[in-house]
Amino acid sequence: MASGQLSRAEALACSGCRHACHVMLYCDTKSQLFGRLPIRHIILMQMRFDGLLGFPGGFVKPSEETLEAGLSRELLEELGVALPISVEDHADSCYAPASSHSSSSPSSRLITHFYVKKMEEEQIKEVERAAASIATDHGQEVLGMVRVPLYTTKGGGGLAAFLSHSFIGNARSQLADSLLRLNLVAPEELHKALTRSLKIHT
Ligand code: GTP
Ligand code: MN
Ligand code: MN
Ligand code: MN
Ligand code: MN
Ligand code: MN
Repeated sequence: MASGQLSRAEALACSGCRHACHVMLYCDTKSQLFGRLPIRHIILMQMRFDGLLGFPGGFVKPSEETLEAGLSRELLEELGVALPISVEDHADSCYAPASSHSSSSPSSRLITHFYVKKMEEEQIKEVERAAASIATDHGQEVLGMVRVPLYTTKGGGGLAAFLSHSFIGNARSQLADSLLRLNLVAPEELHKALTRSLKIHT
């Protein structure tokens, strides 16, 4: 396991830790941009209240709810739909990088759990509609859902430009790792996009 990573069981054994769960919801699609660029997959992220991009989800209380039930509760608040999340959807857990303003005592450290759930295209579209209309957090903690562009346009826009934005916590690497692991983008394409994304604002 990469540094900072721990198993779900190890994570839960830290009773004093704070826990947060987030999920990458995605689907396959046959639609094309401009009628010629394959979109391939719809991946949902969100613009957060703090101006950072992240995945839907939030803080959970393992003393009161399972990680998955807590994540479902957060999804209902942020997306306006009840989505069952199961243990099989768990991808990894890791310690959040210690931030300067939070206590450095190990017991209060934040553990972030990441889930991945593949859905049907019609379900993803229903999530987008609900998130923009009936979700209680819409316009408050969540400013809007966004899709991740996986392609590269002639002008070099697309995935690289998306990756050049600012992300909460390690959401950017959660996205990149998932693209690789689930084979949603070819490794060399992802590598190029990651490299180019670092040069965009400099
Ligand atoms: P409140 O209701 O305001 O408490 O927000 P929330 O419960 O929705 O929590 P939030 O989604 O902000 O997540 C809690 C913490 O997890 C954040 O303060 C970040 O440190 C971290 N976090 C948020 N989104 C992500 C994400 O997409 N990936 C990772 N790794 N961490 C995240
Ligand atoms: Mn495309
Ligand atoms: Mn929330
Ligand atoms: Mn949240
Ligand atoms: Mn919350
Ligand atoms: Mn909240």
